[in-house]
Amino acid sequence: MGKILTIAMPKGRIFEEAAGLLRQAGYQLPEEFDDSRKLIIDVPEENLRFILAKPMDVTTYVEHGVADAGIAGKDVMLEEERDVYEVLDLKISRCHLAVACLPHTAHSGVAPRVATKYPNVASSYFREQGEQVEMIKLNGSIELAPLIGLADRIVDIVSTGQTLRENGLVETDKICDITSRLIVNPVSYRMKDEVIDEMASRLSLIVEGDKTK
Ligand code: PRP
Repeated sequence: MGKILTIAMPKGRIFEEAAGLLRQAGYQLPEEFDDSRKLIIDVPEENLRFILAKPMDVTTYVEHGVADAGIAGKDVMLEEERDVYEVLDLKISRCHLAVACLPHTAHSGVAPRVATKYPNVASSYFREQGEQVEMIKLNGSIELAPLIGLADRIVDIVSTGQTLRENGLVETDKICDITSRLIVNPVSYRMKDEVIDEMASRLSLIVEGDKTK
């Protein structure tokens, strides 16, 4: 029997696309993969074990080596700066990080308050812009902050733009494009290089083969 590879998968909106990509790459994943509440799913036929984590935590599991590999958004990689290898851009879950606010937000002269799930990324962005801001860390529903007067601006993920639109917010600056990446623990990469390289090349064939993405 080959070596078992443990992969940290992000629960939520990336999950379906990531699972779809693995299936396209020829990995036989069971039905329970899609609608189970289980947090650990073994797929012995493929020598794979999946752990289902919060997207922000995937890099933590991989850095600590409890998962050999994982699928993480570039947003999480930029925010967390973990000691992991990024081996492949999977080109799924495309979105971007942006600054947004209510239209006609007046500049009060004092440091604007910025609400975000990404305080590190946002801080370095505003530092580069030479602007002093006050950071307010939230864990979700970031768009709420300017609506109720908690913040003047937000830094958040924009995908379809629907959340901004429906809450009357406008994007003022784009920070960077985001896609999901295959990441690997450095020690695992040494110990299980063959299986990891195989997975990366099978996924790469699908990613690069589909030029419509
Ligand atoms: C993300 C993000 C935005 C929204 C953007 O939130 O933080 O709120 O999606 O998507 P859209 O441009 O297609 O509307 P998510 O739904 O992941 O939940 P969260 O608010 O708890 O972070």
